[in-house]
Amino acid sequence: MNAYSAIVTKRDTRAFAPRPVPDEVLRRILQAGRMAGSSKNTQPCRFVVLRSPERRAALAACGDFAKHMPDAPLCIAVVLTPGGGAFDAGRAAQNMMVAAWAEGVTSCPTSMHHPACARETLSLPADHHVAIVLAMGYPAATGNDRPGRARLPLDGYVHWEQWDGRRE
Ligand SMILES: Cc1cc2nc3c(=O)[nH]c(=O)nc-3n(C[C@H](O)[C@H](O)[C@H](O)COP(=O)(O)O)c2cc1C
Repeated sequence: MNAYSAIVTKRDTRAFAPRPVPDEVLRRILQAGRMAGSSKNTQPCRFVVLRSPERRAALAACGDFAKHMPDAPLCIAVVLTPGGGAFDAGRAAQNMMVAAWAEGVTSCPTSMHHPACARETLSLPADHHVAIVLAMGYPAATGNDRPGRARLPLDGYVHWEQWDGRRE
């Protein structure tokens, strides 16, 4: 799968096969996250890998829409250290999800609506926080749980030269 195909076919899925993600695949996923650029190369992200069902269930309790996390054989919490921004976390997270999908591993970014709960569950230092958790695994044999949602047409996303600009 080339980079463009991986990006445009990647959908956020919440139904996983129990098959574990092999160590060498996990390593490439984490490496893709590590290689994301960051503002002034401050490298503010850290990743907490959760494979234990108990740990995944405990962290899932910190999100309001995280019921799929205990079913995902692998979760990766993207943690921001002080000074890190959401954009840094987003770049690392998307790198990991796209690299994973290129290997057939599907994923769903999952919000931690209760940040103190997530911090405590992962025993983070007080000035660190969980930006997002990536639930990951091979797709369930039954297929995607939800069809991908529609996107606005490209014309609705792109403006030319200025906000009210139209392409000639
Ligand atoms: C920042 C962010 C937070 C999200 N949080 C959740 C979440 O807590 N639970 C969930 O099931 N999906 C979550 N999603 C997934 C979105 O619902 C998903 O990206 C959107 O529905 C589009 O899905 P599609 O790419 O499969 O069409 C989140 C996505 C993003 C980008």
